[in-house]
Amino acid sequence: MQRKKMVIGNWKMFKSASQASSEFSDFAKLIATKKLNIDVGIAAPSVFLADLARRTQNSVTLFAQNAHWANEGAFTGEISTGMLQSILVNGSLVAHSERRQMFGETDESAGKRVGALVRSGMKAVLCIGETLAERESGMLKQVLTRQIEKAIEASGIRSANEFIGSNPSSPLLSLAYEPVWAIGTGKAASPVEAQDAHAFIREVLSASFNKETSSLLQILYGGSVKLNNVKDYMACPDVDGALVGGASLIAKDFSDLCEKCD
Ligand code: G3H
Repeated sequence: MQRKKMVIGNWKMFKSASQASSEFSDFAKLIATKKLNIDVGIAAPSVFLADLARRTQNSVTLFAQNAHWANEGAFTGEISTGMLQSILVNGSLVAHSERRQMFGETDESAGKRVGALVRSGMKAVLCIGETLAERESGMLKQVLTRQIEKAIEASGIRSANEFIGSNPSSPLLSLAYEPVWAIGTGKAASPVEAQDAHAFIREVLSASFNKETSSLLQILYGGSVKLNNVKDYMACPDVDGALVGGASLIAKDFSDLCEKCD
């Protein structure tokens, strides 16, 4: 089965409520008109998600930027998968490098978040990637292997099929390879660097699950993806889409970028 491409815009901590509503409505409309054969999503700040869920036009999948593993409890500032589902959010990013670097996210907590999302039938986009120091000291493969294996272990899910879910063309687990040094810097990984890392990630997934499961999972590239370079990534056999930060903030520009991925 050929993997469907998926492009997700990560709005990080940008926009006011009115900007989020109007930009998202415009984007959903543009994407609905284009009738693309790819999955398109926006990971918005949680405070806007309930409003945006009413504006998706079924053309845009809504993602949170984080989700807690407990159903409920004394976890101030956190949001459960059940809460997200109750406002029709379909999935969440997990362990974005900004959360790993600034908010104490670990491979173990990342895995617990993945487990909770997948058990709820929601999409989990596990973000992984190396720092510049790790790449320059030859640790790339070691870091990626650790991030994947520890998260799978901590998810508590033992059956590969559970990570796929009921629709193999849109598996519940996806990976986003985002080299830390390429995020928001304008210094994107070259398509060759991205393809090499993605092919390696697929090998690790194959060893952790099996070949068939790893061939179904979507691996997105993130890090300074723009309108003028996105096509080069999409041409790589193991790059199944993009996680886009800065270039996802303006509806028209991001819809043009999505169109290039079709
Ligand atoms: O989640 C998105 C990534 O952090 C990439 O951000 O496209 O602004 O480099 P960027």
